[in-house]
Amino acid sequence: MSSSELHVLVLAGGESTRIRTGRPKALLDLCGRPLLEWVLSAAEEVASGSRILLLGPTHQESIETWLDGSPCENWKVAIQPEANGTGDAVRCALEHLPETGRLLILCGDTPSLQPETLAFLAEQENGAMLSSIVEDPSGYGRLARDKEGNLIGIVEEADCDEETLAVQEINAGVYVLDLSALRKAIANLDTDNAQGEFYLTDAALSVLSETDGAVVTIEGEDEILGVNTLVDHARAARILREWILGEHMLSGVQVDDPASTFIEHGVEIAPGARILPFTVIRKGCKVGADCSIGPFAHLRGATQMADKSELGNFVEAKNAQMGEGAKAKHLTYLGDTTVGSRANIGCGTITANYDGTAKHRTEIGSRAFIGSGTVLVAPVKVGDGATTGAGAVVLSNRDVPDGEVVIGIPAKSLGKSTKA
Ligand code: UD1
Ligand code: CA
Repeated sequence: MSSSELHVLVLAGGESTRIRTGRPKALLDLCGRPLLEWVLSAAEEVASGSRILLLGPTHQESIETWLDGSPCENWKVAIQPEANGTGDAVRCALEHLPETGRLLILCGDTPSLQPETLAFLAEQENGAMLSSIVEDPSGYGRLARDKEGNLIGIVEEADCDEETLAVQEINAGVYVLDLSALRKAIANLDTDNAQGEFYLTDAALSVLSETDGAVVTIEGEDEILGVNTLVDHARAARILREWILGEHMLSGVQVDDPASTFIEHGVEIAPGARILPFTVIRKGCKVGADCSIGPFAHLRGATQMADKSELGNFVEAKNAQMGEGAKAKHLTYLGDTTVGSRANIGCGTITANYDGTAKHRTEIGSRAFIGSGTVLVAPVKVGDGATTGAGAVVLSNRDVPDGEVVIGIPAKSLGKSTKA
């Protein structure tokens, strides 16, 4: 069976009631990408056939709006008209799937699953499910085994007796199942349980017994964490953040304090860069070699730092491009700004990029010297080697020519700088 095509189905048809925000958990931001994108992109790495995303009507529109134009837009959507349980969700998706082959089923709310684990599951000859041994099993379905260790039940918490409640081996909600056996098992499901729902777990148990499938067991909750509440969401964010930071550190980025450093998914940092504490770097930013960032810096809007540039304490950079060796070391906002190589941005500099209606760019030339407390009202250009005096306010479109010195409010020229 393991050689046949692997189709994949992700279940995200639930109402997200336990999140309590009225919005779908699938779209909660998790380290720079929606929760669901983590699941879909992990599944994509092992899928060889169809990719089906199961949604419910409540959140269909918002999730489809996100899907369109996202990196996952090649997923096909199936709809479950009513959230009658995970078994019913699979039933609704079956008509979009081939009659035979294998199906990988994942819950859309388990964002930290690793593609390697999914690949290992897919390698099992006769189908498989994923379980985990956890410290606190509450909220999960428990695995019941007989004296020989054979799987005899997957019991939802609401259906557990006291003895089963204490079981620490839980169902991660990930299965690789033979499609034709699954079709039969889904058709035979009933709602005879505490929640009155169709449970996919019942169908999975019956398919795995029929095909003599495996239970693949991992340790701990980090990888299988299911996000049901915003408390779970914060835990998932911490886990993923630690993994992201670990990858950067192993590739040569010095992170002084991982506990206070937030680097989102999709940030490129070259080896040799150093990130000081209390720093946030959002998706799409790129940092060159030997850069220094922080403490207390915030980089966003695809900010780019060329090699050896610095953004220091209390600096926010949004859609800024720092040239090689350029520095803004203290208390500065650089928005929609290009900073030339080796320019120095003095303490307290602000690029006033927003006029209340539109955003405008500021261009600062190479080796420019921006005095402390300068306000640059965009759109404006400060030339190569130009200087602004402390407290200068350079008005929009009053470009400062190369090498010129300006001071005051509004800034006026003092002529060419002797150092230029
Ligand atoms: C499910 C499993 C449980 C497992 C846990 C792992 C069942 C019956 N239970 O429980 O054994 O330990 O996942 O995280 O399968 N969904 C639908 N339609 C529905 C209901 C749910 O598409 O009608 C989707 C949800 O959007 C979610 C996923 O299926 O992404 C799991 O549903 P959820 O309600 O979170 O199941 P759990 O109670 O966590
Ligand atoms: Ca869940």
